[in-house]
Formats: sequence, C-alpha cells, structure tokens
Amino acid sequence: MGQDRTRTVRSRILWPFLMIAILLMVVFAVLISRQIATAAPEQPIAFKHQVHAEAEVECLFCHPNALRSDIAGIPSVARCVGCHQTIANDSPNVKLVFDYWERNEPIPWQAVNNMPDFVFFSHQPHLGAGVTCETCHGNVGEMVVVKPIISMDMGWCLDCHLDQPQENVARLTDCLACHK
Ligand code: HEC
Ligand code: HEC
Ligand code: HEC
Ligand code: HEC
Ligand code: HEC
Repeated sequence: MGQDRTRTVRSRILWPFLMIAILLMVVFAVLISRQIATAAPEQPIAFKHQVHAEAEVECLFCHPNALRSDIAGIPSVARCVGCHQTIANDSPNVKLVFDYWERNEPIPWQAVNNMPDFVFFSHQPHLGAGVTCETCHGNVGEMVVVKPIISMDMGWCLDCHLDQPQENVARLTDCLACHK
C-alpha cells in the first residue's frame, strides 16, 4: 500500500515534466520542418536574381510559361547565352554557363519550391486572376539567392482560396481542385 502511494505521488510529479518534454519535441519538429521547407538548395552556378532585376530583365522574359501553362519553367542555356555572348562574358560565373553550352548540356538547376506529386498546382489560373509572383514567392527581384518565403502547405493555399468571391469558393476548396 505505502509503496503504491509513493509511486502515484512520483508519477503525479513526473507527468507535467513528461508533457512539457513532449510539447517541446513537437514544437521543435515543426520549427525544423519549416526551416527545411524554406531553405535554399545549392545551385550549380551562382545565378543572382537581384542582378538581373536591377538590369530590368522581366520575370516573364525568363519564365514565360507561367502565363500559359502549369509550370513557370526555367530558362534554357540558349536564353542565357543569347545575352551573355556580349554581356559580362569574361566573368568566371558566366564562363561556367558557356561550358554547359559547349557541352550541349542543360544546367542542372535544383528545385526551390516543390509540391508533393499528389498536389495539382498550375501557374496559369493564378496569373490569369491577377495574383502576382511576389504574393507567393516574395520579392525575388531583391533576392541574391531565391528561397521560399513561406512553407507552401495546404492551409496556405486554402486561406487564399477561402478569401475569393463567394461564388468561387466551393470550386476552389473542392479537394479535387488540388488533388486530382
Ligand atoms: C535572366 C533570367 C531570369 C529572370 C529575369 C528571372 N528568373 Fe527566376 N529563375 C531563373 C533561373 C536560372 C532559376 C533557377 C536557379 C535558381 O533557383 O536561382 C530561377 C528560379 C526562380 C524561382 C525558383 C524556382 C523553383 O525551383 O522553385 C522562382 C520562384 C523565380 N525564379 C521567380 C522569378 C521572379 C518572380 C522573377 C522576377 C522578379 C524572376 N524569377 C526573374 C532565371 C530568371
Ligand atoms: C499562387 C501562388 C503562385 C504564384 C502567383 C506564382 N507562383 Fe511560381 N510557384 C508556386 C508554387 C506552389 C510552385 C511549386 C510548383 C510545383 O512544385 O509543382 C511554384 C514554382 C515556380 C517555379 C519553379 C517550377 C516551375 O513551375 O517552373 C518558378 C520558376 C516559378 N514558380 C516562377 C514564378 C513566376 C515568375 C511567377 C510570376 C510570373 C510565379 N511563379 C507566380 C506558386 C506561385
Ligand atoms: C536579358 C539578358 C540576360 C539574360 C537572358 C541573362 N542574363 Fe545574366 N546578366 C545580364 C546582365 C545585364 C547582367 C549584369 C552584368 C553586369 O553587371 O555587368 C547579368 C549578370 C549575370 C551574372 C553575374 C556575372 C558575375 O560577375 O558573376 C551571371 C552569373 C549571370 N548573369 C548568369 C546568367 C544565367 C545563368 C542566365 C540564364 C539562366 C542569364 N544570366 C540570363 C543579362 C542577362
Ligand atoms: C494568394 C492567393 C492564392 C494562393 C496562395 C493560392 N491560390 Fe490557387 N487560386 C487563386 C485564385 C485567385 C484562383 C483563380 C480563381 C478562379 O479561377 O476563379 C486560383 C485557382 C486555383 C486552381 C484552379 C481551380 C479551378 O477550378 O480552375 C488551382 C488548382 C489552385 N488554385 C491550386 C492552388 C494550390 C495547390 C495552392 C497552394 C500551393 C494555391 N492554389 C494557392 C488564389 C490563390
Ligand atoms: C487549394 C488546394 C488544396 C485543396 C482544395 C485541398 N488540398 Fe489537400 N493539400 C494541398 C497541398 C498543397 C498539400 C501538400 C502540403 C501539405 O501537406 O500541407 C495537401 C496535402 C493533403 C494531404 C496530405 C497531408 C500530409 O501531411 O501528408 C491530405 C490527406 C489532403 N491534402 C487532403 C485533402 C482533402 C480531404 C481536401 C478536401 C477537403 C483537400 N486536401 C483539399 C492542397 C489542397
């Protein structure tokens, strides 16, 4: 009897600590997964958005498919060479671009934003509705290295879809709009 009492007393004291430990672990896991979701990958060439924005090259000059298809697309080596045959052609980073061009190889750019395969996303309807690049990607023109500004999770998509004109909300929050 006496032993049982001490055991319950002891577990009563331990419980709060255990709860706090579990809570801390959960908070930690969430913070780490956010950090992974918003980290920038290593790129094969130090490509700087900020330099190109300062030179007034439009987003859509390099990512024209955003207007008409699901993907925005990454420019081909030919598009880089088109300008760099004459611009900054003695810079070491630009010479790396010519190396790919001469080997006739694509530059293996690493994806920054990546939806899981079970999610359908398309740029075209968003641009058609006037949502700007900045809304989802942040001010890329001021970034030296592009990285995601937010974790693009389901809650984030739904927040904006719920905010649309009432007559469109049912269609935009239908599971099958994003999970085909
Ligand atoms: C001169 C061509 C060029 C211009 C102009 C340009 N981009 Fe890019 N963009 C690239 C290249 C190359 C990559 C892949 C390398 C990288 O991620 O830095 C890229 C990557 C990106 C990515 C990350 C793609 C991913 O993998 O998820 C986003 C977002 C992006 N650009 C948005 C923009 C926006 C917004 C603008 C206008 C402010 C812009 N870009 C202007 C060439 C360009
Ligand atoms: C409504 C939010 C939203 C808007 C607006 C948006 N994007 Fe994206 N973008 C995304 C998401 C989500 C992904 C990841 C898609 C995937 O992995 O399938 C992405 C991926 C990309 C990529 C890499 C993959 C690809 O599709 O080629 C580039 C480049 C890009 N966006 C550029 C742009 C540019 C440039 C604009 C403006 C013209 C723009 N985006 C507008 C949400 C958006
Ligand atoms: C519309 C013309 C244009 C296109 C297309 C273009 N660039 Fe540039 N790029 C520029 C200009 C302008 C500068 C700034 C040059 C300067 O500051 O002297 C620049 C600068 C650079 C630099 C910096 C040079 C340095 O000293 O490090 C790199 C690297 C670069 N571009 C890579 C690329 C790559 C990779 C692509 C293709 C994805 C590309 N550029 C497409 C116009 C362009
Ligand atoms: C900032 C607001 C915003 C964000 C964030 C956003 N969307 Fe949208 N989405 C819209 C608007 C506006 C439309 C076009 C509405 C229309 O056609 O009536 C749309 C349309 C769509 C459509 C086409 C639906 C149809 O029936 O034509 C899909 C699919 C979609 N979004 C998926 C996504 C996914 C997946 C995400 C998150 C990764 C996302 N959206 C994030 C605003 C947003
Ligand atoms: C506007 C787009 C959109 C709509 C509508 C939507 N989802 Fe999602 N869903 C996403 C995105 C983006 C992800 C991936 C990111 C994440 O896990 O949050 C996702 C992930 C999921 C996952 C996987 C979660 C995980 O952690 O792996 C499930 C299950 C899911 N959705 C179910 C649903 C159901 C059920 C509905 C309808 C009630 C729905 N979704 C409607 C965009 C959407």
